[in-house]
Amino acid sequence: MSGASSYSGLVDQTFWLILGSSVIMLLGITAVLIYFVVKYRRSTNPNPAQIEGSKRLEILWTVLPTILVMVMFYYGWAGFKVMRDIPDDAMEVIVNARMWSWSFEYPNGVQSAELYVPTGEPVSLKLRSSDVIHSFFVPDFRLKEDCMPGRENHAWFETTRDGEFTIFCAEYCGEKHSQMLSKVVSVPPVEFADWLEDNTGPISPEKLLSIKGCVACHTADGTRLIGPSYKGMYGRKELVKTGEEVREIVVDEEYIRRSILDPMADIVEGYAGVMPPMEGQITDEEIDVLIEYFKTLK
Ligand code: CUA
Repeated sequence: MSGASSYSGLVDQTFWLILGSSVIMLLGITAVLIYFVVKYRRSTNPNPAQIEGSKRLEILWTVLPTILVMVMFYYGWAGFKVMRDIPDDAMEVIVNARMWSWSFEYPNGVQSAELYVPTGEPVSLKLRSSDVIHSFFVPDFRLKEDCMPGRENHAWFETTRDGEFTIFCAEYCGEKHSQMLSKVVSVPPVEFADWLEDNTGPISPEKLLSIKGCVACHTADGTRLIGPSYKGMYGRKELVKTGEEVREIVVDEEYIRRSILDPMADIVEGYAGVMPPMEGQITDEEIDVLIEYFKTLK
C-alpha cells in the first residue's frame, strides 16, 4: 500500500530502516548462536574453559549499536518533526471524535461526517474528543494521533493524490469501536471549493443527526439500539432515572434539550447511560431543528 500523504515516504523509510536492521541483526545473531552451539558442543569440548574479556569486541559491540541507534533516532526525529510542524498556510479543520463516530468542521462553519480535502494542499487538524480517548488513524497517510477529552491535540497532512482513504479509530473506546469509521475524500482544489460552497447553509435534520454522531445509537424508525429510538418519542410519557430516583416525565422540548446537552441527568428506564454530553458541540439552533424533526416522527 503506497502512501498518499506528503510525509508518508519519510515514515516508510524509517519503518523499513528499523525493520531491515532488526531482521539483519536477528539473522546474524541466530547464525552465530547456531554456530557456537555446534562448535562448542559437549562431545568435542568436554571441559568448559574460562574466557577473559576482549577489548576489541567490547568496543565493537558498543560503537556499532550506538551508531545504529543514532541513525534510527535521526530518521525517527526527522520524520516526527515534519509531522508535528504544521505549515502556516494549512486549512484548519476541527475533528470531533465521540463514541462512535467522527465529524469535521470547516473554517466557514460547514460540518460533515466525511473529511473532504483539496489534493496537494496542507490541512491542519484540531483533534477533540467529547467522551473517552479515541485515535484518529489514516493508514494511507501514515497518520495516527490521539483525540483526548479535555485537551486539544493537533496533526496535519497533505494528500498527494485524489482518492478516498479510510479513517479508523485506533484506540479501543467501547462497544462499537471497530465501527468508528469514516473517510478522507481528497479531490482537486476546484472541486473542493465547489463542495464547500454546496454545503454552506442550513443542514437537514437527518444530516445533522449523522454529523453529530447520534445515528450510531439512535434510530428514527423505532429500532432499538444503544439508546431509545426517536420514533413516537415526542409527547410520550416516559419513566426516567434521575440519580437514584425513578420518575415519570413527558418528552417535551425542555426534556429533549436537557437530554442532548446533559444526557446523564435523566436516563430512560431500561437503557444504560453512555451518551457523551453535547454541551459545546451543538448550537441552540441545531437543537431547535432536531426538536422540530422529532415532532414529525409519529
Ligand atoms: Cu473511538 Cu475506538
